Amino acid sequence: MKTLTVELGERSYPIFTGSNLMNHPELWFPYLESSQVMVVTNETVAPLYLARITAALSGKQWASVILPDGESFKSMDSAMTVFDALLSGRFSRNAHLIALGGGVIGDLAGFVAACYQRGIPFLQIPTTLLAQVDSSVGGKTAVNHPLGKNMIGAFYQPKCVVADITSLDTLPDRELSAGLAEVIKYGLIRDPDFFNWLEQAMDALLQRDEAALTHAIERSCLNKAEVVGLDERESGPRATLNLGHTFGHAIETGLGYGDILHGEAVSIGICQAADLSRRMGWLSDADVTRIIALLRKARLPVTPPQALSPETCLDLMAVDKKNENGQLRLILLKSIGEATLPLPIERHRVLQTLEHYGRH
Ligand code: NAD
Ligand code: GLY
Repeated sequence: MKTLTVELGERSYPIFTGSNLMNHPELWFPYLESSQVMVVTNETVAPLYLARITAALSGKQWASVILPDGESFKSMDSAMTVFDALLSGRFSRNAHLIALGGGVIGDLAGFVAACYQRGIPFLQIPTTLLAQVDSSVGGKTAVNHPLGKNMIGAFYQPKCVVADITSLDTLPDRELSAGLAEVIKYGLIRDPDFFNWLEQAMDALLQRDEAALTHAIERSCLNKAEVVGLDERESGPRATLNLGHTFGHAIETGLGYGDILHGEAVSIGICQAADLSRRMGWLSDADVTRIIALLRKARLPVTPPQALSPETCLDLMAVDKKNENGQLRLILLKSIGEATLPLPIERHRVLQTLEHYGRH
C-alpha cells in the first residue's frame, strides 16, 4: 500500500493506493468522524462492493443510495434523490458521505457533499481506472446540464481517497481503456518519461498486470496531486489537465451523455489537440503519429463520430469553462511532455482541425 498526500494546507488529504483496500477499513474508517454515514453508489457497483463498505459501518447509522448507472444520471435529478435520502433520514450537517464507484458517482456525490447543509465531509472510494487516476483526486465535483458537461459544480476536496486496485478486476475492458486516456494525458502534459514507459508497458496494462497498473496509477496520482497542490482552483497550471477535454466535451454533449465514454471522447480530443499543435508548428508529424499510435494501442478511438459536423462541434466548444469573452481557449502541446496554458485560438484554426478530422 502506498500513501501520497495532496498538499492543500488544512485541506490536505491522503490518497491510498494498493490491493484489497476496501477490505481494510482500519485505513479509511478513521476518516468517518461521524455516527451518520451515507454511501452513494450505483446499481452496477453496489452488488460488487457495497457490502464490503457497509460491513465496517455496523456501529453507525448508515444508509445507501443506489442510483441508476450512466453518465446521463450525473444530473440534478440524481443529486435531488440523494438530498431526499439525506433529509428524510434526518442526516445532520455532521454526517459523512462515501462516494463508491466511478467518476460519475464521485463527481455527483462530491457535489451533493459540497451542497448539503452547506457542506459535509466525504470520502472517495473510486472503482474505475479513470476515477483512480483522475476524477477522485483534486476536488472537482459537478453534475451535467443538458447544455454543457460539468456546468453545475463546486471545488470541494474529499477527506481521503481509497484506490483499491483489486476493484479493477471486475472492470470491463472498454472502461479500462477509457481510464488509460487520462493516464496517457499525464505523460503528454508534463511527464515525458512516463509517456515513454507507457509505450513499452501498454500491452501489460491491457493484460491488467498488477505491477504495471500499480505503477500507472501511482505515477498518475503523483502528477495530479502535484498539479492540484500548485493550483487548486485552476487559475493556472491545473488547466493543463484539460488537454483534449474541450474537443472531448463537445463530442460528449453533442452525442448525448452516455453514447461515448468520457475517456474515449478525451482520446479523440487529444488527437485533435495534437493536430492543432502540429499546425501551430510545435509538434512534428512524427510526434502526432506517436501519440495516435499509443492511444490506438490502448484500444481507444482516435477519430470523432461521423454524426457530428465540424460546425456543430465548434458551437459546442463555445460552452467551456476556460473560454473568456467568447474566445475559445485551448490547451495544446509544445512537445510530448509539455503543455501550454489555455491559449486563445481563432475559430478558423480550430475549424481546420475539425474539418481535417471530419474527412476521416
Ligand atoms: P463511470 O463512473 O460511468 O464508470 C464507468 C462504468 O464502470 C459504469 O458503468 C460503472 O457502473 C462501472 N463500474 C465502476 N466500477 C466498476 C468496477 N469496479 N467493476 C465493474 N464495473 C464498474 O465512468 P468513469 O469513466 O469512471 O468516470 C467518468 C466521469 O468522470 C465523467 O462524468 C467525467 O466527466 C468525470 N471526470 C471527472 C474528473 C474530475 O476531476 N472530477 C476528471 C475526469 C473525469
Ligand atoms: N480533470 C481535470 C482536473 O481535475 O482539473
